[in-house]
Amino acid sequence: MNPAAPLLFFDSGIGGLSVLGPTRTLLPNAPIVYAADSAGFPYGPRSEAEIAARVPALLGRLVERFRPRLAVIACNTASTIALDAVRAALDLPVVGTVPAIKPAATLSRSRVIGVLGTEATVRQPYVDDLASRFAADCTVLRHGSAELVAIAETKLGGETVTVDSVRCAVQPLLDQANGDRMDVVVLACTHFPLLGDELRAALPGTALVDGGAGIARRIATLTRDQPWPDAPREGHAVFTGGTPGPALAAALRRFGLSSSSAF
Ligand code: DGL
Repeated sequence: MNPAAPLLFFDSGIGGLSVLGPTRTLLPNAPIVYAADSAGFPYGPRSEAEIAARVPALLGRLVERFRPRLAVIACNTASTIALDAVRAALDLPVVGTVPAIKPAATLSRSRVIGVLGTEATVRQPYVDDLASRFAADCTVLRHGSAELVAIAETKLGGETVTVDSVRCAVQPLLDQANGDRMDVVVLACTHFPLLGDELRAALPGTALVDGGAGIARRIATLTRDQPWPDAPREGHAVFTGGTPGPALAAALRRFGLSSSSAF
């Protein structure tokens, strides 16, 4: 294994940074390529057929270009729809991001948990399956929010976002039957942990669970015996829809991504 072979992170936008962050903490010397399908963003309102056609093809091109040692689909929407197809198409380990329903069910005392994702994610059979396997004795409320995805992109783009806008976006989850008893919410979209402060303020007393730390541990396990560079390297970001503006570039630098280009 070439020590310079990167980890490839993939999302529709900047949400995958919430998975990259904990991974950098565990593997600080890992070379990183972060790919955002900004030309296809947002995925949430898209159909299953569109995502199933787009994601494996794009990942195939990215793998050919960057020769990563491992790919991370840091997007719940893409993972719950296209993970199997991507794994079948690529000859390298592929780690997906799927809703953290299992840890949420472990944590819940009221046995009412919420799943907050994109519109596409919350309707997936993959989510039905996780709920019946790991939360069979829980009421699992679901809400898909394109607004929250947009708010997260706005925040990383350097603009101010308000707790009120986040509160409005999550209200439909609370308004469902038994919503008042919900004590754990799964952040089933990688954009949402980037709004952790705002979500905690909007959902006081509710535990928020996401998969970022678990995925980082999985990546560390899968690359356990592999060589890394001796010191941290600058990471690179690629965007299918053009290069980021100055505020987003500054946010990317905070995640170790010091350069970016169009792909
Ligand atoms: N970050 C993505 C996810 O985890 C998708 C956001 C979007 O493009 O709608 O589902």
